[in-house]
Amino acid sequence: MIIGIPKEIKEEENRVAITPAGVSAFISHGHQVLVEKGAGLGSGIVDRPYEAAGATVIESSSEVWQQANLLMKVKEPLPEEIHLMRSDLILFAYLHLAANESLTRALTKKKVTSIAYETIQLEDNSLPLLTPMSEIAGRLSLQVGAWCLQAENGGRGVLLGGASGVRPGKVVILGAGISGSTACQVAAGMGAHVNVLDVNPSKLRYIHDITGGRITTLMSNRANVEEEVVDADLVVGSVLIPGAKTPKLLSRSIIKLMKPGTAFVDISIDQGGCAETSHPTTHSHPIYIDEGVVHYCVTNMPAAVPNTSTYALTNATLSYGLEIADLGVMKSMHENPALARGLNTYQGKVTHAGVSTALGIGLTTVEEVIGG
Ligand SMILES: NC(=O)c1ccc[n+]([C@@H]2O[C@H](COP(=O)([O-])OP(=O)(O)OC[C@H]3O[C@@H](n4cnc5c(N)ncnc54)[C@H](O)[C@@H]3O)[C@@H](O)[C@H]2O)c1
Repeated sequence: MIIGIPKEIKEEENRVAITPAGVSAFISHGHQVLVEKGAGLGSGIVDRPYEAAGATVIESSSEVWQQANLLMKVKEPLPEEIHLMRSDLILFAYLHLAANESLTRALTKKKVTSIAYETIQLEDNSLPLLTPMSEIAGRLSLQVGAWCLQAENGGRGVLLGGASGVRPGKVVILGAGISGSTACQVAAGMGAHVNVLDVNPSKLRYIHDITGGRITTLMSNRANVEEEVVDADLVVGSVLIPGAKTPKLLSRSIIKLMKPGTAFVDISIDQGGCAETSHPTTHSHPIYIDEGVVHYCVTNMPAAVPNTSTYALTNATLSYGLEIADLGVMKSMHENPALARGLNTYQGKVTHAGVSTALGIGLTTVEEVIGG
């Protein structure tokens, strides 16, 4: 197959869908790879290593789109890319179609085969192409939270690790999933005092076990949440209920009770956020102060570290990309049910139940499509 890698054109998106190592893998499987000139620059990867790995670097984005059989992207195509779609194109990217009716209609009209990173799902219900980004957001939350706490940003002026003879800062983490547990490890590594809350006892047990009890784990309920956050220096929101809006664990009245200058990093903002006071921000204006609390609510945190994010993302996407390229769409879906769950549109039909329900467009099941 010919694999096409265009440069991302969405604002603030500096990741790229393949690394030079990924190019080598496709080439060694007998495929051809076309990379748009400068596609990796935002992630600190120049054209030469792509060429050294066997890719052909092409000046024009539209040529990459036109020649590719399998087009791998990071983010969804933008309106200006719609005219480049065609019925024999396989598109593999983060698509988030349930929230994007116009793109869904364009993909079905153009009969594109689209496979969404975020709906590839393993038997245990985990989402392997979302996990690396949660891990990165969790790690970043401490870095940005520590920055929010600095006096010049309106923070309390507390250093999380404290100093000799001075107490460390208190970090409270709401949600002990992928992002919450990585945030816990970084917070503990910085020398902070860390308390984490979740509704799932097995998540709390995991944290307790891996940190040897150094982190306090607490059941998440209204009383515990309130008691913890009013005494915190940094609160991290990393709660998720799959398929639902994030619960508002922090009402405005609780936020009001928090100490002035407390930092609050709401990772879960991309699903609505876990505080009544949260609203989305961008990397160019990441923070605002409400009720005296410094809020950081950036919806695409991994974009702040595109180099790391690109490697983490492509580590996860490559094996699926190779499967599609080696076996073709039908056979790869037959052989790998996780990949089949990623199919969102095929030959003008919507093939993902979540997208169909969200947009009120009729569903053709993947089983009907692949005949199994
Ligand atoms: N802002 C960003 O750039 C960015 C990046 C990656 C992920 N995210 C978002 O971060 C959120 C967390 O992602 P994740 O992969 O860590 O999810 P996850 O499913 O691994 O973890 C979520 C945790 O929340 C817990 N939870 C549910 N209800 C709770 C409650 N009432 N109180 C306390 N805990 C509760 C769950 O038990 C689970 O352990 C998601 O909304 C995800 O979309 C945002």
